[in-house]
Amino acid sequence: MRKKIVAANWKMNLKLAEGAELVNDLYNTMPALSNNCNVVIAPPYTHLLQTATQLAVIDHVYLGAQNCHHESSGAYTGEISAGMLRSTEVDYVIIGHSERRQYFGEDNELLARKVNQVLSNSMNVIYCCGEPLEIRDAHTQNIYVEQQLKKGLFHLSAEQLIDVVIAYEPIWAIGTGRTATSTQAQDMHAHIRSVIADQYGADVAANISILYGGSCKPSNAAELFACADVDGGLIGGASLKADEFIGIISAMIKS
Ligand code: 13P
Repeated sequence: MRKKIVAANWKMNLKLAEGAELVNDLYNTMPALSNNCNVVIAPPYTHLLQTATQLAVIDHVYLGAQNCHHESSGAYTGEISAGMLRSTEVDYVIIGHSERRQYFGEDNELLARKVNQVLSNSMNVIYCCGEPLEIRDAHTQNIYVEQQLKKGLFHLSAEQLIDVVIAYEPIWAIGTGRTATSTQAQDMHAHIRSVIADQYGADVAANISILYGGSCKPSNAAELFACADVDGGLIGGASLKADEFIGIISAMIKS
């Protein structure tokens, strides 16, 4: 059975003390999770050690990172390797977020190398895909997302894919307040699952978690998570406030 997951992507927000306070508030109000119902928190790199210590006492809540370098070590000033992340107890690494693709020029080929780094260091990948507005307006989003999946992930074996979660984040819905409708989300999630089924078979496709991201809030989470192929969410803005993030987690538990 595939897992339900709600993951927080803090992006470049919160100072160290603010991050500690947020995780403390989450700890105090976290509803009961389970093996099949998990939470991931991905703070900035500077918060990882602190957050690891805090999360050690919260069941089924895992530490995430927002990026890693595509090489294992070397003269790459300012960069962080997957091995370093693993050494701070990171379990999930977000790869291919649209902000990395857009502002840092990361393409599918580079992302495939990052995926390999994460998996070879015994962590899970949250692989992001999603189309910009002009692609949605041209109705070519299915083929666009398919290419992101094929180029970034399809070099993996079926066994390796077990450690991959997919996040569909339409760029036009990120931070805009304009959420995809539940029909738009379900249609794309079903498409992603069918593309995986074609490559890896129905069993693998049925077991992979596909998260929705883009202006997900407590007020729309229940409707999105009720969709058959939506297995949770990757949350930006609403993950920075404990009550809102808990509201989204509660919607996942009930879904
Ligand atoms: P928002 O929830 O702020 O729209 O961000 C979504 C996102 O990019 C999560 O990775």
